[in-house]
Amino acid sequence: MTITTCIFDAYGTLFDVTAAAREAAQEPGNAALAECWPKLAADWRAKQLEYTWLRAITGEHTDFWTVTQNGLDWALETQGLSDPTLRERLLQLYWELSAYPEVPAMLAALKDAGFNTAILSNGSPDMLAGAVTSAGLAKLLDDCLSVESVGIFKPADEVYQLVPNRFGCAPDQVLFVSSNGWDAAGATGFGFTTAWVNRAGLPIDRLDHRPAHILTDLTGIPDIAKGIA
Ligand code: LAC
Repeated sequence: MTITTCIFDAYGTLFDVTAAAREAAQEPGNAALAECWPKLAADWRAKQLEYTWLRAITGEHTDFWTVTQNGLDWALETQGLSDPTLRERLLQLYWELSAYPEVPAMLAALKDAGFNTAILSNGSPDMLAGAVTSAGLAKLLDDCLSVESVGIFKPADEVYQLVPNRFGCAPDQVLFVSSNGWDAAGATGFGFTTAWVNRAGLPIDRLDHRPAHILTDLTGIPDIAKGIA
């Protein structure tokens, strides 16, 4: 089936979720963070995701910004960091995360080739708008689809169904791109053609569905979408 629509996970895929802790660690007065920022960033991300899965299982949905703050608070306490100014700074930086360097040219190539492009994310609409605007990506995306419109986090099928509903395409006309192995697996199970961006060289997740493509960054996405890779 020909791909018509390229859909991207946001956090970790287009936006570098480690950037907030890395950048704050370089700022004056944050010496304690400089000692531990890689662990803090990893714990923050792991808890944030764990809380999304638990809330999806139990049906106790809350928005991703709340979950992001809950994960950060757990990670800060683990490191013995309790400075409220540091907490606020980390959250501010999370709101305006950097995009990976290849993202603008990759999205521009997709738009030039006539593909629909959009984000499909756990992020709440205001978070996504903040990140897209600060990264200068607004003109390169047709839409930002948020789980908030269905009230459950990935990998629930209701979330992936937002894409066919929005673009009027069949699932296998969608190239879904995620750096999260579990998200790529969920999207494959839903019926999307998938690409897993494995920047960290991780082993593949032992789940039922495996991505059609595995990449180390996003530069190959336009060729995959065109069916020439
Ligand atoms: C998202 C998370 C999973 O953007 O990174 O949906």
